[in-house]
Amino acid sequence: MDIIIRNIKELIQTGNGLKSMVCGKNMAKLATIKQAFLHIRNGKIQDYGEMTKCPTVRSAEIIDAEGRMVFPSFCDSHTHLVYAGSREIEYIDKIRGLSYEEIAKRGGGILNSARLLHDTSEESLFEQSLLRINEIIGLGTGAVEIKSGYGLSTDDELKMLRVIKRLKETTPIIIRSTFLGAHAVPAEYRGRQDEYVDLIINEMIPQVASEELADYIDVFCDRGFFTVDQTERLLMAGMKYGLRAKIHANELDFSGGIQVGVKYNALSVDHLEYTGDAEIDVLRDSETMPTLLPGAAFFLGMIDPPARKMMESGLPLALASDYNPGSSPSGNMKFVMSLACIKLRMLPEEVINAVTINGAYAMGIAEETGSITKGKTANVFITKPIPTYSFMPYSFGSDLIDTVILNGKVILKK
Ligand code: NIG
Ligand code: FE
Repeated sequence: MDIIIRNIKELIQTGNGLKSMVCGKNMAKLATIKQAFLHIRNGKIQDYGEMTKCPTVRSAEIIDAEGRMVFPSFCDSHTHLVYAGSREIEYIDKIRGLSYEEIAKRGGGILNSARLLHDTSEESLFEQSLLRINEIIGLGTGAVEIKSGYGLSTDDELKMLRVIKRLKETTPIIIRSTFLGAHAVPAEYRGRQDEYVDLIINEMIPQVASEELADYIDVFCDRGFFTVDQTERLLMAGMKYGLRAKIHANELDFSGGIQVGVKYNALSVDHLEYTGDAEIDVLRDSETMPTLLPGAAFFLGMIDPPARKMMESGLPLALASDYNPGSSPSGNMKFVMSLACIKLRMLPEEVINAVTINGAYAMGIAEETGSITKGKTANVFITKPIPTYSFMPYSFGSDLIDTVILNGKVILKK
């Protein structure tokens, strides 16, 4: 089955060498082809190039882009989109002046979501999460990482991970699953935090691994959550079962999370509001993708990470939505791009690299998606008419996605 998209005003993020990541100064470079075609065959990118070289394939479905642009789908490498209910009550508490940590201390926050999730059936959790998956597909996302972490007991963590597995099997989007038992300490373990860590290590991780429910392991290594020592124990236990780390680090303080993540060769360290010279130095000598979540910093009114300094030091950056009910109730990657431009002073080229190829790297799927590269999965979207690619982050509130193609099939035409 062939599809040929003709008359593309500009085909974004092209390159057959794009199988890993983009760092430092190269973040500001973006390969594109003006007046282009894209040939999709059997769900993969078969070929692309200038319109003058557009092939004729009998029986191919022809889509005339009529001067609109084509992007590779967004790769959202950090979400918690499997959750029950919502937490707008805490949003109001925040408006009234309470901090994220104060809300968490009062039994709100992650523990509030854990209670809601406990009282929700697996079926209902699946249905609620499916709506969010369909929502982000419509917003241009073609690959997403989803974490557990609102279970905080063996049964409820497994419930979440089974829902993620079912979403993997039944939706057209690429999904990677991360076990985040160490997201918060459940109320019944308050004051006995190490015992909860033991439970994760001795009971949860072996069961998660035996049912093959997770690709990665995460720990919220930050002030008031899990310490560096506990994180080390958890990451070592995960590694025994082949679970590579992707961790929450340095959102609330200089927690040592970045250093411990790099020490265990984490695939990514995420949040990074508190990043200084020492953190940049360890990241520079690593294969770990620094991942920024500007939606969470925006929603919580926190400080911004030093994105420019990180890129000027030669680092790559990925951007993700952190879609979750407490600190970032949005999976809109186009808005994440806008926030990164406005708040982090990243250039349009830099944010496009960060939400495509670098996001794919942060999920371990850069060989499969994240760019217009021959042989990669044909996950792309066609925009509405736009004057330049910079118009995407610039027009921060507008829906500019017209047609969504996943696995070489048109999923949505608005
Ligand atoms: O990434 N930082 C920790 N976890 C989530 C928040 C989860 C919640 O508040 O429900 C985050 O921001
Ligand atoms: Fe998160």
